[in-house]
Amino acid sequence: MSIDFDNILHRKKTNCKRWDTLDQYHPNIIPMGIADMDFPCPPEIIEALKKRLDHPCFGYTYPTDNLKELIVQHLQTQHGWTIKKEWIIFYTDATTSLYFIFNGIKNKLQNPSQNQVILQPPVFGPFFNDIKRASLLPLVNPLLLKDSSYAMDFEGLQNIFQKNKTISSLIVCNPHNPIGKVWGKEELLTLGNLCVQNNCITISDELHSDLILPKYKHTPIASLSPEIEQNTITLISPGKGYNIAGLKTSVAIIPNDEIRSHVSFVTNNMDPNILGMIAYETALTHAPKNYTPALMKYIEKNFDYVDQFLKSHIPNIKLTPPQATFLAWIDMRSLKMTNTELEDFMLNKAKIHVIFGHTFGESGEGFIRLNIGAPLDQIKKALFQLKEALTTL
Ligand SMILES: Cc1ncc(COP(=O)(O)O)c(C=O)c1O
Repeated sequence: MSIDFDNILHRKKTNCKRWDTLDQYHPNIIPMGIADMDFPCPPEIIEALKKRLDHPCFGYTYPTDNLKELIVQHLQTQHGWTIKKEWIIFYTDATTSLYFIFNGIKNKLQNPSQNQVILQPPVFGPFFNDIKRASLLPLVNPLLLKDSSYAMDFEGLQNIFQKNKTISSLIVCNPHNPIGKVWGKEELLTLGNLCVQNNCITISDELHSDLILPKYKHTPIASLSPEIEQNTITLISPGKGYNIAGLKTSVAIIPNDEIRSHVSFVTNNMDPNILGMIAYETALTHAPKNYTPALMKYIEKNFDYVDQFLKSHIPNIKLTPPQATFLAWIDMRSLKMTNTELEDFMLNKAKIHVIFGHTFGESGEGFIRLNIGAPLDQIKKALFQLKEALTTL
């Protein structure tokens, strides 16, 4: 069963956050903000869910051994990382898992002054509040930007470690939302070793690791050495890669027994959604062969279109070269707009809903994150509206 990614799905009035929560804007605003895709999930998932719906009972559930086995196999075959089933803790979603992970780390450290978490912005904005909700403090070490290419600032990180003895952990986003970068082995090794040397637990958000563009390869940071593995908590989920975020199932992998027992204790057996776990099992069985390669080829074409369109029609607005995800990180700093002006321009003049760069941290100001996980015609329409709106300035 192949999917026609060009087919326009009408998602309005389906309880869809991306399409149904924009009432305050123009009725025809194009929703390219929230990070899910306007594509169907793998068709085998629909079949499996329909079959399960034939039984009328949806009582308490638990993650099956088969699902754990499939996760182990997936990480091994797709990303070359060998894990043990026992290392897996299930959650409903990554955001919820972070709350328990931070609290588990606090219990392990037993030191209230170790209350800072390092982030490398521009990075997934909700991390800032996830940290604050656990009564911790975000400490930023912004990425370095040179010629549209981002790198981690290791000098900055070393300085932070030297000056602060109050750090508990660091969150790395790999692939990185919003810049779409697949971090290389060397960078990850340097990062992982710095964290080990400074007793700083690495939390690696790898939610987008099933969305890698054809020329690139994802490396789980924990796969790089036994020391880094023991110091790392890795988050994965079927939500992004198979477009089933609403089915609420995600996973934390914690190889270190002590850290895992603290996180497990505060989590207290969070069984995810019964349908989500069936969908996850089905995705891992079929999608890597039947869905992901076609999806990523389509997304690559969309990125190429955006890049060519901007270069031909609006060359002062630039796409950051993408390596993963369906999120285009677009540099609009040449327009010299304030955050409020950029918001007004995109929402009210171009009539495109996006996520604004400043919400990913100060270093994201002047950028927008455009979700291109959609049929090409929708992207063409949005880019045309953007070009037309620019002529009115
Ligand atoms: C990098 C990253 N982490 C976490 C999340 C939140 O995931 P969840 O819906 O599982 O809480 C997202 C969602 O966009 C994300 O992109």
